[in-house]
Amino acid sequence: MAYTVPKLDDYSPASLDKAVQELLTALRQEADAIGSENDWKEFRDRWMARKNGILTQVNDLWLKAAPGPSKRDVGGRVNQLKGQVEQAVEAAQQRTSGSSSKARLESERIDITLPGIHPVLGAEHPVIKTMNEIVNVFRAMGYSVAEGPEIETDYFNFEALNFPPNHPARDTQDTLFVAGQEKKQQRDRLLLRTHTSPVQIHAMEKQPPPIRVVVPGKVHRADTADATHSPIFHQVEGLAVDTNITFSDLKGTLDHAMKALFGSNVKTRFYPSFFPFTEPSADVQVTCFKCGGKGCRLCKMSGWIELLGCGMVDPGVFKFVEKNGYDAQKISGFAFGMGVERITMLKYGIDDIQLFYQGDVRFLQQFA
Ligand code: PHE
Repeated sequence: MAYTVPKLDDYSPASLDKAVQELLTALRQEADAIGSENDWKEFRDRWMARKNGILTQVNDLWLKAAPGPSKRDVGGRVNQLKGQVEQAVEAAQQRTSGSSSKARLESERIDITLPGIHPVLGAEHPVIKTMNEIVNVFRAMGYSVAEGPEIETDYFNFEALNFPPNHPARDTQDTLFVAGQEKKQQRDRLLLRTHTSPVQIHAMEKQPPPIRVVVPGKVHRADTADATHSPIFHQVEGLAVDTNITFSDLKGTLDHAMKALFGSNVKTRFYPSFFPFTEPSADVQVTCFKCGGKGCRLCKMSGWIELLGCGMVDPGVFKFVEKNGYDAQKISGFAFGMGVERITMLKYGIDDIQLFYQGDVRFLQQFA
């Protein structure tokens, strides 16, 4: 039953106490029952409306009706009640507006036990990964790392590497030249470097012997893209120059490097070859790491896989850097260069070089 303000027929402190207690109990109960902003408005009006609100009734029924001697006591109590009602109404308002912000929080609730959204982490590209592996094998042998420009002059890419102008060996590297340079001297014409070997010259121009350096980098050739060719690919170059460097040093170094890259079971062999900037020159082959040398599809039944080119630095190359201490009478050296894509393909059994450049996450993820 909802509370109604009783008429008082007894103004003794005891019955006033009782009436006040009943009113406060009702006030508390009704305040507790408030659930929404509408409930609160009803509550406020029921207790505080000027016309017929409970406080007004208390004023009329208790204070105005009180006999003279009790007026003071009743007045004091009514005043106190007024304060308590106002307080209750205010507190209830805070709670209800609090409960609507509570509702908002409720709707924005997050379940902290759900698994989080994983940020997609990038990973090393398989080509870069292999390139770093190769570089690290040589760093462990005391080589430093250098880089050079991808746009080169004819001089660095060819001439200083002992490819004279019009030499037929230039045809082995289908070169992309920068257009519109006919007015320049041939040696100054710009091209996209066809190999990392020009960095041998840059390195020797910068540093007198002894030198041990590896050069990772991107190279370009006018090749049509297919399963084994790409107009852009990567190489790692190596150069070691000192007194008394021999072909045995070259063999030992590359044999060690191939074992480090492909496993200690592989054997290497050096097959005669030709490069204008090395003499003698060789192609390095390793025993097929798939069939172990018996012959399979990967090694085209030969048991051997060709991995890189190398040789002893041609004295004709030292001529171009003679002024920086490279006197072919006193020093000697070796150089090597390998295709990173090719090595990566062999290492992982990848049959199409284009997979490296298509950016298909399903492919790349396998190397992450
Ligand atoms: N620059 C050669 C090429 O791209 C590889 C090579 C480097 C050979 C160093 C010998 C010495 O084919």
